[in-house]
Formats: sequence, C-alpha cells, structure tokens
Amino acid sequence: MQPILLTLLVVATLWQGCSLGTPRNELVEVFSWKTLDFAYPSEQSRQQAIAAGDFIPGNSVPMGVEVWQDKVFISVPRLGKGVPSSLNYVKMNDMYKAPKLIPYPNWASQNMKSKEPGLKIVSPFRMSVDACDRLWMVDLGILDIKTSFTKLFQPRILVFDLKTDQLVLEREIEAKLLPCRTWIANIIVDVERDNCQDAWAYIPDLWGKVLIVYSMQKNDAYQVNHQYFNSDPLAGNYFIGGFNFRWDDGIFGVALSPRSVETGEKTLFFHALSAYTEYAVSTRVLKNATLAADFYGYKLLGSRGGEFNQAGAQSMDPQTGVLFYTLPHKNAIGCWNACDKSQEYSPRTAVQVVQNNVTLLYPSDLKVDRASRVWVVSNKLPVFNNDALNNNEVNFRILYGEANKVIEDTPCDPNFVAPPVFDKGPQHQHQHQHHQRRRAHQRRAPQPATSAIKTVPRLWP
Ligand SMILES: *[C@@H]1O[C@H](CO)[C@@H](O)[C@H](O)[C@H]1NC(C)=O
Ligand SMILES: *[C@@H]1O[C@H](CO)[C@@H](O)[C@H](O)[C@H]1NC(C)=O
Repeated sequence: MQPILLTLLVVATLWQGCSLGTPRNELVEVFSWKTLDFAYPSEQSRQQAIAAGDFIPGNSVPMGVEVWQDKVFISVPRLGKGVPSSLNYVKMNDMYKAPKLIPYPNWASQNMKSKEPGLKIVSPFRMSVDACDRLWMVDLGILDIKTSFTKLFQPRILVFDLKTDQLVLEREIEAKLLPCRTWIANIIVDVERDNCQDAWAYIPDLWGKVLIVYSMQKNDAYQVNHQYFNSDPLAGNYFIGGFNFRWDDGIFGVALSPRSVETGEKTLFFHALSAYTEYAVSTRVLKNATLAADFYGYKLLGSRGGEFNQAGAQSMDPQTGVLFYTLPHKNAIGCWNACDKSQEYSPRTAVQVVQNNVTLLYPSDLKVDRASRVWVVSNKLPVFNNDALNNNEVNFRILYGEANKVIEDTPCDPNFVAPPVFDKGPQHQHQHQHHQRRRAHQRRAPQPATSAIKTVPRLWP
C-alpha cells in the first residue's frame, strides 16, 4: 500500500471515531478507583498522614460530581475516619484511569486539626456550578459521620469563584430554618450570566422534607414547606448491592429548566428519593415566600410507576430539554423529555435508558454539563453503609455520555417514533424497530454544535 493512502485511511478512521461520539444508550467509564488516593505535596507527607491516621485508605467515598471546563469536581464527605480532603477535583483529560484527587481550593482548607483561622471544608455532599462560573455547595459541617458523628459547624452555603479559586460566600443556614431531623445533601442554583448577583439557591432537606430558598442578593433564606416534598411510605424499601434497607427520604432530586422564552421563568423539577412521582414548580413561585406557601402553585407531573423505581439525583440538558436522573434501585439512569408535546410523565415517557449492575451500582450523583454531556459518579454506598467495601475491586466510577447519544431511539429522543400498541408477533416487531430506527435517523434534528465541546475526556479501552 502506498504511504499516502495509508495516511488517508488513518485519518478516515480517526474522523469516524470523533464523529461517532459516545455509544448510543450507554455511558463510558472515564475514571475508576478501588480506593481513592489524594495528591499530597510529597510521598513523605502522604506517609505521615497515613501514620497519623489522617488518611485511612479505603475510607473515602466519592458522593458528588460536577464539571467545569477541564475540572471534574468530586466531593468526599467525611463519612468514615481518615478522609483527608472532602472537596477535590481531577483533570478531565488526566492520563491515569485512577487519578489522585486534588484538594480544592487547597490542602489548608481540608485540615481539620489545624488551629489556624480560615476556611475548613468538612462534609459537602453534592455541588452545583452556576452560569457565572461559581461552585456552590452546602457543607453539612459533620465529621466522621459513620462513627463519632461530630458536628463542627452548622450547615453552611459555600461558594467559590472558579476563575480565581477564591471563596466568595460563606453563609450559615440558621438552625431555625431547619427541622430537628435534617440532612442536606444537594443544591441547585438559579442565575443568569448577565445578573450574577441575583442568584437563588434551592436546597432540599431530604430528612426535614423542606426546601430552603436562599437569595444571594438579599442574603436572605427561608424555609418552604409542601406536601409534595414528602416521601411515599410505600416506596421506602430498597434492595441494593445485596442489602435490604428502608429509607424514608423526602425531597432530594432537583433540576432546573432553561428560562422560558414566553414567561421568562424557569421550572424546578423535583422529587423525593423514596417516591415514584415527579413534580414541578416555577421559580417565580419559589422566589416569593408567600407564593411558595400556596399548595396550588405546584404541579404533579406524574409517576414513573413500577416497583423500585425511585429516582435520585437529576439534571436537565438545556439543549434537548431532557431530564436525566439516577435510578439507584435499578443500577440505572432514566430520562424524560420535558419538551415533548404530550407533557406526559408516565411509565411510557419516563424510561430507563442505561443499566449496568456493575458500573452503576449506586449512581450517587448525575450532572449534565454545558456541553450536554451526562456525568455520573457511582460508589456502592449501600455496601459501604451496611458492611465494608472490598478494596481489591473497583468501587468508584465516573462515567459520561453525550446526552443526544444516551437518549437515541428512546422515548426521550425528539425523533422517537412510538411503536404501535397492537402486537403483531416477534417477526413484525423486529421489522418495525428496524424501520423506526431508520426513520429516526432520517429525521434527526440539528445536533448541538460539536465546537461547543472543548475538551473530550481521554478514553480507555
Ligand atoms: C409575593 O406575592 C404576593 C402575593 O401575590 C404579593 O402580594 C407580594 O407583593 C409578593 N412579594 C414580592 C416581594 O414580590
Ligand atoms: C441486575 O440485577 C437485578 C437485581 O439483582 C437482576 O434482576 C437483573 O437480572 C440483573 N441484570 C443483569 C443484566 O444482570
């Protein structure tokens, strides 16, 4: 073969690889760890930390994931003893499959023993990047959650400017706003790029079953109550990773729509963890404590139905209007197209799209980034909670997929053609599916510009 032809072939192969993106109805594993390790300044300081018990390998569990530019943020609340750093990141294109976590914004803020004044980050569970390049979280303030359960601080909202890595807000959530039994493990932020000061945070309290609304401009927070924040007593049974347990967790999964062209309002989609139903409320309602107290300001969207169809963390792809959510009981990811004209939220439209009993064993968090990529962290939490993780096998994973590929040819795909309801037998069904796929391809809507995707994670075989 002539050299020039060979070059062309190689280019052609590479090009095809790029244009295909991630596989349809799948997530690609980007990182995986047996145990988490951290980027100490030197091996000596790492050994010292181990000797002092400040770092106990195997005790760190990643809970939350969030993505900004080439940083993949990973929260590691201090569940067990010896968690050296609770807020971290790795570089998206890190060449290692199990990169060491880099403390954010620095090591000093992670040192619980230090007597120096300054920020101490104890236990953030999940984070949210806003439209103004800021990283928000609620630090629960509790140390050694699984063992001594030492409360160091009242829960605090922490906000970092990602461009300067500076803390721009540290604000306590007063005890009077929280029920006695409270657990804050999530946050979402509502702000527009042209008015960064007018930011609103919606903070679900999954044990307290209330929503805390915080206005940055007014530096004011209030508690919102609604019966839709409650759990369903018939959806509290879980059987995950070989363990059977009950959780009665209320409002937990929250996602925001883009701003409506007609009304200028956004919609907050929310659900309790131990429930099968999904609800929606306009942020115009939440931003006014009086309106937020009105039962009829909230809307029931419908139910995923089925059994063990609890949904966890969720996030909306602004390009397609598809809501992605974890299905922790099913080791799976689900989706629902909020832009679909039927507006029906049901077992027909809210469907499971990715399932894997190994790689999605407890999908703890899910985010859709600005480039319409779905990111998931899975961590086998029920095994850690009820027993202990096996440090000789992979326990933690970060996976991603391009939103339009994840939903391709599913009811969340805008080009999906629903199969007929009558049954023609297996032969016909197969032909129909084949047809449907061809039609879907022919009628493909414009895709999000690939130029929007600046960094593509390095992939491993
Ligand atoms: C909140 O809504 C109530 C009822 O519509 C209204 O009277 C009040 O002015 C609103 N408050 C603000 C701050 O907009
Ligand atoms: C995944 O696990 C569930 C529950 O243990 C089981 O019913 C299902 O068949 C498994 N799926 C696969 C593909 O192995």
